[in-house]
Amino acid sequence: MRRTDTQNIWKANTSSIEHASSHLAIGRLIGVPTETVYGLAADARNAKAVAEIFEIKGRPHFNPLIVHVLSTEDAAAIVRLDNCANKIISAFWPGPLTIVLPRQPDAQIADLVSAGLPTLAVRAPAHPVARQLLESFGRPFVAPSANKSGRMSPTAAAHVVEEFGASLPTLDGGPCTDGVESTIISLTDSQPKILRPGVITKAQLEAVLGHPVSQETGGEIQAPGMMTSHYAPSASLRLNVTTPTLGERLLGFGGIPHATLDLSPDGNLREAAANLFSYLRKLDETPGPIAVAPIPMDGLGAAINDRLTRAAAPKG
Ligand code: TXA
Ligand code: MG
Repeated sequence: MRRTDTQNIWKANTSSIEHASSHLAIGRLIGVPTETVYGLAADARNAKAVAEIFEIKGRPHFNPLIVHVLSTEDAAAIVRLDNCANKIISAFWPGPLTIVLPRQPDAQIADLVSAGLPTLAVRAPAHPVARQLLESFGRPFVAPSANKSGRMSPTAAAHVVEEFGASLPTLDGGPCTDGVESTIISLTDSQPKILRPGVITKAQLEAVLGHPVSQETGGEIQAPGMMTSHYAPSASLRLNVTTPTLGERLLGFGGIPHATLDLSPDGNLREAAANLFSYLRKLDETPGPIAVAPIPMDGLGAAINDRLTRAAAPKG
């Protein structure tokens, strides 16, 4: 196993993944890459390990966690899959889609995971390292984004160290290709409802389900990612800016002039999503306000604008 002991970042390979799996088995936490963002993984059955996640993230206990599974069968052991669930699972798993469903009465998942709700959120990640870890571990793990509560999600192993210091071991699987968290869809009411926009769009879900999907638009908190201030850098953020004021650094898009960094000079939303959190982190390394160029709302733009709006919201 190749290890950078000083930082506890483990280059992902068969032996480091097995080592990570043995850490999970004894109740330790591990930083793990997924295609969306890096997660902070713990054994979903181990109440003590799950409690430690809430503690080190500073996460309110009413915010439930996503259970990561390898397969549809593993999901069926813990939640009740219906027709709609099976359709979207066939279309989008493994991948960046989390589904909220009624919890099976005999699900072997720590109660704290679902924060007392009768439902569970499940997702089968596509990232090969996350999948190999699930396979080696042999049962589900929970994995919130590996950041302190309210901050930007990590999209590289080094970001996890920035959040939690060197004592937390993290598997390094390279930068995340998607860059924003999974889409969350709830199938617990009569109409499917998107609780968090993400890489899989409303239009894609409607096409597979063959009927309309509603989209949560603020108001009541359904998920912590739905809190007004979230994903936030330390600096203040001003959105939809074409001309930055003196002292502002501009996070650009589509080749806009005067940008300090451009999320995608070609105006590609996938590229912009992949760069979003790491560019915000880079700009946040030096003090001073940040301005952000307008990002179109179509497709993946809805997820990018959702994260930016919450990052710009007043804190506290
Ligand atoms: O892409 C992702 O989903 C990443 C990677 C690591 O897999 N994980 C992630 O986890 O974003 P986290 O904890 O940062 O966000 C999980 C979201 C929260 O907004 C939470 O409220 C919601 O999922 N959630 C979890 N269980 C739920 C439930 N039973 N009902 C409604 N929302 C739920
Ligand atoms: Mg998060």
